[in-house]
Amino acid sequence: MIMKKTIVTSIFALSVLSYIEAEDAHLVLHPSQAKDIIPKEIYGHFTEHLGRCIYGGIWVGPDSEIENINGYRKDVFNAMKDLEVPVMRWPGGCFADEYHWMDGIGPLEKRKKIINNNWGKTVEDNSFGTHEFLNLCELLNCDAYISGNVGSGTVEELSSWVEYMTADGESTMAELRRKNGRDKPWKVKYLGIGNENYGCGGDMEPEYYTSLFRRYAAFCKNHGDNQLFKISAGNDTYWTEVMAKTSAKQMNGISVHYYAIDWGKEENSENGGSATKFTPWEYYNIMSKSLWIDHCIDDHSKVLDKYDPEKRIALIFDEWGNWFSCEPGSNPGWLFQQNTMRDAIVASTTFDIFHRHLDRVKMSNIAQMINVLQAIIFTDPEHPERPCVLTPTYHAYSMYKVHKEAKHIPGDLTCVFVGVDDKKVPCISYTASFDKDNNMNLSLTNIDMEDSHIVDVSIDNLKIRGKITGKILTSKDIHDCNDFVNGYRVVPKEFKGAKAENGHLVVNLPPHSIVTLNISTK
Ligand code: AHR
Repeated sequence: MIMKKTIVTSIFALSVLSYIEAEDAHLVLHPSQAKDIIPKEIYGHFTEHLGRCIYGGIWVGPDSEIENINGYRKDVFNAMKDLEVPVMRWPGGCFADEYHWMDGIGPLEKRKKIINNNWGKTVEDNSFGTHEFLNLCELLNCDAYISGNVGSGTVEELSSWVEYMTADGESTMAELRRKNGRDKPWKVKYLGIGNENYGCGGDMEPEYYTSLFRRYAAFCKNHGDNQLFKISAGNDTYWTEVMAKTSAKQMNGISVHYYAIDWGKEENSENGGSATKFTPWEYYNIMSKSLWIDHCIDDHSKVLDKYDPEKRIALIFDEWGNWFSCEPGSNPGWLFQQNTMRDAIVASTTFDIFHRHLDRVKMSNIAQMINVLQAIIFTDPEHPERPCVLTPTYHAYSMYKVHKEAKHIPGDLTCVFVGVDDKKVPCISYTASFDKDNNMNLSLTNIDMEDSHIVDVSIDNLKIRGKITGKILTSKDIHDCNDFVNGYRVVPKEFKGAKAENGHLVVNLPPHSIVTLNISTK
């Protein structure tokens, strides 16, 4: 072990400076300060009519030769079910800004064919519509997050969509729904009033959008016991300021989108760089961009705190993740990118950041669920009959399942920074929580792509001496991915690198790895 002295600090808390040995990291957990429950919605998803996310991803149709449950690909459905997906946003994205829901209801043969203007001008036959989406949510027992069209739709259109989905009793829209085969209303918890209205959602100024938002919000009613959680579109902190100043009362949440994209480097410019071929500098560049979401949350929170000190308004990251260039040979309008161990690390470290901001961040929806951007599942376009592949990002979600609805345990971390040139990041990231049976689960990520690190964990007033079990997600090479040709290189395995020593926990983390430990403190 090279013993060198280096300045280290808790992540982003520059006031806590100390000197320690380079390979070491120290984590002190404070169970007595544990109060916030990690909402399951932090682990939400986003499904857009884009590329092969819906068609060929989720939906193959009931007559398909591919094994399906009422038209949903069975293997994909089972993978979603295993993950206990808590909430799904649909139908976009930019697609939602041009979506007219009436095109997607009623007999299939009568559904309108439209051009998907945002995503490759593909023909959209509307065979996956409101019924297909909401039935899927019901089967998965997950909440629906409907993204409404403010960009090119009307107030009446959105308010009648809400009525169609959620009203019971005597109502024209409920009657129409019944005619289309669904008697009881569905539950729709989340309603997005617009998407990226500063851009593909209508190129608006926030001052204009805020009035529109209130107008739409006023006419989207609660029917029966269905209570809508209304989410405004967002952008930068100026936009947040305008919304909070003028529409705080009308909104339950504001959306922010945050992608880690490498716009800067010449050879990558405009395309975001390769998902699988990256240099150490490119790795640390993406890591520092994705970790920057911490500052983004701070900045938006500061603005919201001014107008909403009770912290009623939620910050919703309903699009986030890595955005790389499309895989060579794939349709550039379909945003298909591979997924490596780097993506898993971006996912776990982003969860850790969300968990440190539970006072504001209440939901996130990674972009996107299947075959698009930082996907959790791939299906094979050439051989759709092949079983779907679970990506490293999927496994990061599964490693973090234990933290859903668990009580977050704050801590203090001291560790070295690692990286190349100006791209340096803290080598360790973590989340600790108590599950409902008061078991402690600790996830640790070693961001260092080359070296292992030893983390010394202590818990205030508690000695660790009980049973420790664990899982690890890592791979020989950080560029490894799971695919149809080479198979599964990045899958969780049993982890034996943690031991209790003098009441502390000592964890030896291999390079680029994510570990989740279950620690008995009894
Ligand atoms: O996720 C892809 C696109 O990124 C979404 O449609 C849009 O909202 C964002 O710009």
